[in-house]
Amino acid sequence: MRIDVLTLFPEMFESPLNYSILKRAKEKGIVEIVLTNIRDFAADKYKKVDDAPYGGGPGMVMMCKPVYDCFEHVEKLSPEKAKVLLLTPQGQKFDQKKAVELSKEKRLILISGHYEGFDERIRIGLNADQISIGDYVLSGGELAAMVVIDAVVKLLAGSLGDDNSSKEESFSEGLLEYPQYTRPEIFRDMKVPDILLSGDHKKIADWRRQQSLERTKQWRPDLLNNPSAE
Ligand code: 6GU
Repeated sequence: MRIDVLTLFPEMFESPLNYSILKRAKEKGIVEIVLTNIRDFAADKYKKVDDAPYGGGPGMVMMCKPVYDCFEHVEKLSPEKAKVLLLTPQGQKFDQKKAVELSKEKRLILISGHYEGFDERIRIGLNADQISIGDYVLSGGELAAMVVIDAVVKLLAGSLGDDNSSKEESFSEGLLEYPQYTRPEIFRDMKVPDILLSGDHKKIADWRRQQSLERTKQWRPDLLNNPSAE
């Protein structure tokens, strides 16, 4: 997969994209992530990319011209057709189902805004879907873009050592994950449940399923009534 990111702060992405699973996925060629600075496409000598809103009101709005020029430049960097996503709190909520959907695309172009938002003609003219990572307002779309990239890349075949591990995790069946344990068997008087040491794979699977259900009922009952994951 190729992911292009249009942002005013490409440096913000450097650390999160260079550790652990994302780093490995890039090294293995599973994903290519290309960051492009919208400010490089500012038309004037002050590198202006935002302006006051028509009609008045607080804050600044991302201008059309630099974003369109940046987009048109980035689009041509690869012949692959892209799904275009605008990161904004007005967007559709990003969840595991959406992550699975996006992981099937060959190319994504993510546009991270800053300030009070984008000129409406950016969404319309670039034919962008809007995505939000939750019901709160961040200072910009960069952290949200990183969340989307992380969740999507983790799903790409070969990103994880073991291809089953993303299937069994929280949300992949609309349930929370069962409890996990590793060595030692006893830690400060807390013992690993006997069943996990029994070697009986059928019983272990049943127990885990039961635990998943109970935890979901207790901690996230909203997931049981409103399944949003595959
Ligand atoms: Cl995508 N952007 C901003 N600025 N705030 C958010 C968000 C995105 N998703 C949740 N809050």
